[in-house]
Amino acid sequence: MPTMGALHEGHLSLVTEAKKNSTVVAVSIFVNPTQFNDPEDLKKYPRTLEDDIKMLEKVMGADDFIFAPSVSEMYPEPDTRKFNFGTLENVMEGVHRPGHFNGVAQVVSILFEIIKPSVAFFGQKDFQQLAIIKELTKRLYPDIRIVSCPIVREHDGLAMSSRNRRLMPEHRKEAGIIFKTLNEASKNAVRSTLKELKDHVSSQIEKIPGFKIEYFEIVEEETLTPLVSLDDASAGKHYYGCIALFAGVVRLIDNMEFRLR
Ligand code: PAJ
Repeated sequence: MPTMGALHEGHLSLVTEAKKNSTVVAVSIFVNPTQFNDPEDLKKYPRTLEDDIKMLEKVMGADDFIFAPSVSEMYPEPDTRKFNFGTLENVMEGVHRPGHFNGVAQVVSILFEIIKPSVAFFGQKDFQQLAIIKELTKRLYPDIRIVSCPIVREHDGLAMSSRNRRLMPEHRKEAGIIFKTLNEASKNAVRSTLKELKDHVSSQIEKIPGFKIEYFEIVEEETLTPLVSLDDASAGKHYYGCIALFAGVVRLIDNMEFRLR
């Protein structure tokens, strides 16, 4: 189970799921420099290894591993591999964080080669990452099974994230609006147009001072193709409303299933 540390209950839920499904669990803690397109973001990423280990010890067993390598161990030489995920990376995070998924694919492939897992666990919180990892695995590691785990939320619905601890107190107090608004939009989806849903999401969230939406798209689960009209939704496919926003300087992402038929 790969992580970048600064662990919270969301991460632990993946570890618990991994424990249920495996004889030996390895959790990696590595803040991967190649997936940060903003050097400032990399510098500010919380590093709390001692606390992380204490948290993991509560849920891990004597035969399990924590793997917390250094940058030079993971990248003895610069990784120059370029992955092409086609349309999967031409939307949402792929557009707003150029190079991000290339770095994620690099580090996950290195981890897969070192750990050689039979199963790997990823959270639905990072919805696009999950689609990309599934594609990477299908192409390069067909024997590894990818298990996706549901989003764990705070009491007010805010998706747990290592970045939440950087929110200003007044932003943290209001941040439940993100889940509340996605929920409203998903409930209204069958009797609205896409424009109405988008307008609702932006007006509700941006009424909080300091909150600014970067994108809100409703995409098909596997191809990540954004809907242009709700009428284009196909029966039998699954759609997710995906949002990225700034709360002050902190960038948050979240998503929720939208049942359109
Ligand atoms: P990180 O943000 O530490 O997340 C590690 C894993 O925990 C990811 O699979 C993520 O989706 C999952 N996760 C985070 N918050 C969650 C929540 N609230 N509920 C459920 N799952 C949650 O994602 C990364 O690290 C990195 O990109 C990584 C895959 C480790 C590669 O560096």
